[in-house]
Amino acid sequence: MQELSIKFSDRDINDKSFSIKERDLFNKALEICQQAYAPYSHFNVGASILLENELFLTGSNQENSSFPCGICAERVVLFSAKSNYPDLKVLKIAITAKSKNFKNTIPAAPCGLCRQVLLEYEVQQKHKIEIYLFNEKRVIKFNQAKDLLPFYFSEDRLKRK
Ligand code: THU
Repeated sequence: MQELSIKFSDRDINDKSFSIKERDLFNKALEICQQAYAPYSHFNVGASILLENELFLTGSNQENSSFPCGICAERVVLFSAKSNYPDLKVLKIAITAKSKNFKNTIPAAPCGLCRQVLLEYEVQQKHKIEIYLFNEKRVIKFNQAKDLLPFYFSEDRLKRK
């Protein structure tokens, strides 16, 4: 058997080691989380991105009475980044969630679809995307999208070897 280990840090949200940019990124995710359209799940998610030109972009989850039409906050902001700024690298993404019905004691993590989207952009831009999952108390940080999706599906699998 082989073993796979994943590196991540788990810090207090008030940890002094977070930079001003990182704090801004968290605040933007918190702000946009309030704008979620989540009348069905009552689970608001906010995602913020830092691009290489220092621009911040944000997105929230958008639901629909036809449930499969809904889309996660992470993909809202990633697709917006790649349609408006296709040549700019995504350096960081922060994700937070709030439910009307319960307390999120563990920071919410991106779903499988969002991991796949993050992964493809990371591979394409040849630059790691740092991922921060946070709630009021903690920040869990992964150094790259690959850490959240080992053995991923990628474009080279579409070719005959
Ligand atoms: N959701 C996200 O926005 N991001 C995730 O990574 C997981 C789930 C949204 C989708 C749906 O609107 C609500 O949270 C409940 O699943």
